[in-house]
Amino acid sequence: MRLSLRFVVPLLVALGIFAYAALPLVDRLMLRWFSRDLEVRANLIATTVDDPLHTLIRTGDRSRIQEFFTRLTQDERLFAVAFCPPETGDPVATPTLPAEVRCSDLGRFTEPAGDLLQTATGPVFISVRPLVGGGKLVLVHDMSFIARRSRETRDYLFLFFVGLGLTVALITVVIAQLSWRGWVQGLRALLRGEGLLRPSGKPYVPELRPIARDLRALIRDLEAAPRRLDEDHVAWTPDTLRTLLRGELRGQEVIVVSNREPYIHMRQNGEIKVWRPASGLVTALEPVMRACSGTWIAHGGGSADRDVVDAHDRIAVPPPPAPPAYQLRRVWLTEQQEAGYYYGFANEGLWPLCHIAHVRPTFRTSDWEQYAAANRLFARAVADEARSDDPIVLVHDYHFALLPRLIRESLPEATIITFWHIPWPNPEAFGICPWREEVLDGLLGSSILGFHTQFHCNNFLDTIERLIEARVDREMFTVSYRGELTAVKRYPISIEWPASRAATAASVEQCRAALRQRHGLPEGHAIGIGVDRLDYTKGVEERLRAIERLFELQPEWLGKFTFVQLAAPTRTRIEHYQQYQARVEALAARINERFKHAAHPAVILRIEHHEPESVYEYYRGADVCVVTSLHDGMNLVAKEFVAARDDNAGVLILSQFTGAARELPEAVIVNPYDTDQCAAALQLALTMPKEEQRARMRLMRELIKEFNVYRWAGRMLRDAAGMRRRGRLSHSAVAVARAAL
Ligand code: G6P
Repeated sequence: MRLSLRFVVPLLVALGIFAYAALPLVDRLMLRWFSRDLEVRANLIATTVDDPLHTLIRTGDRSRIQEFFTRLTQDERLFAVAFCPPETGDPVATPTLPAEVRCSDLGRFTEPAGDLLQTATGPVFISVRPLVGGGKLVLVHDMSFIARRSRETRDYLFLFFVGLGLTVALITVVIAQLSWRGWVQGLRALLRGEGLLRPSGKPYVPELRPIARDLRALIRDLEAAPRRLDEDHVAWTPDTLRTLLRGELRGQEVIVVSNREPYIHMRQNGEIKVWRPASGLVTALEPVMRACSGTWIAHGGGSADRDVVDAHDRIAVPPPPAPPAYQLRRVWLTEQQEAGYYYGFANEGLWPLCHIAHVRPTFRTSDWEQYAAANRLFARAVADEARSDDPIVLVHDYHFALLPRLIRESLPEATIITFWHIPWPNPEAFGICPWREEVLDGLLGSSILGFHTQFHCNNFLDTIERLIEARVDREMFTVSYRGELTAVKRYPISIEWPASRAATAASVEQCRAALRQRHGLPEGHAIGIGVDRLDYTKGVEERLRAIERLFELQPEWLGKFTFVQLAAPTRTRIEHYQQYQARVEALAARINERFKHAAHPAVILRIEHHEPESVYEYYRGADVCVVTSLHDGMNLVAKEFVAARDDNAGVLILSQFTGAARELPEAVIVNPYDTDQCAAALQLALTMPKEEQRARMRLMRELIKEFNVYRWAGRMLRDAAGMRRRGRLSHSAVAVARAAL
């Protein structure tokens, strides 16, 4: 608008000036035209009246001459007529002849051009014409009509210029606006490729609408490409993740599905308590969900879980006093479903199948049926929770091998990322599973299938090649199956960095003192810790045997070193786990019995649930952390210990069979089956100079800082965004080809 005013006002002013300057010119022009006209008329009248006038003059009848003149002046413009005889004789004139016109003084009037004369009655035009018969005819034309006409003309001219000015201004402004907008829109449309879709003048083809929408989305994505986060040059934080979600995924809805829930409501002594489970998956995902918001769907397994949800089985978490950040949607399972799906097929079948821990998997048809039923239940929950037809669904772990396919069926547009948190075995081992094809078919419903290590990605592709009819692209690491493509990728999981607890945690010194005091150990007493679920894959027995061996080989540590094992009870209904717990308890008791004469116990075993704050204190107060998993997808205890040590002290002993060992080579890497080697590693750790501890710890901390859990989630989400872009592109290409047919 302001632009228009800036244009219109000067235009009107210029036109006004122009009109003002033009008026005298118009006056002069009109006068000239009318004078010329009057002269022609004067000639005509003179020629016409010459003969009759002389005839009358010859009669000498003045009254008839006057009558003749009066008749002539009936023409509205002819005001007066006079006849001036040659020399003698009286002039004859109409009474209207102005006094200023005298026959004796006709020389002042030009001939043949007339003259304008101002008289008392107004302006008149005097034409003097010699007559053939002698004498002169004086014709006086009234010029006041010219003044009238001139006034009218001025008025018209004025109105004309005003009208012209306004019209020009209006047209100019409209055209300027239209053409600017049109130009800009046209340019944009061209850049978006719309010109290709809707050539001007051609009718809009409704079938092309979805293609146009896809192309537009694609163009927007491409426009966003330069702004895309450069993974390597970005410090990954919750904010980075949020930016990625808002930018590349344009606020796309995120739904997470896992069996284990991040918060368990338990009824204890009539009160409701919130537990945070011992689960690497939960440890990693919880901070991600806090950053992403969205919905986390999980099994509601706590004794008070039903008491706190709303009518839709949802609860906002984290619980107070923390501000709620996302929704937890609980799915209820019957005893029978839980027994078959969770304890049975997932944890007695797939878990031992995927871990080389020498526990045989057990596969029962009834468990399989419950597993399939539970997967269908979760698929319905996903469909319930989805607010769009193309959400991003992150499916977690071996509890949900069938879920990706089920989601794909109900939400074909969804981007499904499945992350397999445990190892993937070789094809021979996997081939044991009686429902291997079904499991693979289910997983290949995913858009992306992630593992912690390349080794597990390779095992998966080998398994596909060996067991089902699918095309494997080893270069791109994709599987083409049933017309759909699944990308198989490595995403090593990590933890929150910096740990949210770090800000409020007690100092390392305080933690050291607190631990020693809690266990009745003197100041300076060396403490080693192990933090695990009491799972046979964790190598707790092997670890205890290594401690026993250390005391055998280096008895000077007796009474000076204690190993504290925090063991969270897990899957306790499963016989293998019950037996394992019994074996671990017996072993710890035997070792303590063997070295009972030492001033302080060799092993302290705490089989109970530990809240993360308490575990954090152990990490900070210990000298050595021992992770001896027999097989582990990643193992986040190792990373959490390193993250907790902002004093750059402490030593990590890490099993070579964990995914973490590939990322943390500065740890003291051990083979947990080699008891002597593990005992030697303990000796090395307990005697390692502070300087060396610092050097190793710094390197490990740098790595975790750089590859934290936000980067893990960010990489998956970015790949999902890329896949959506490519999906749209191929979708559009197919649609264009179809439309062209
Ligand atoms: C492993 C699995 C997780 C599981 C966790 C705890 O880390 O990969 O999916 O949550 O163990 O096991 P639980 O059976 O108690 O959930």
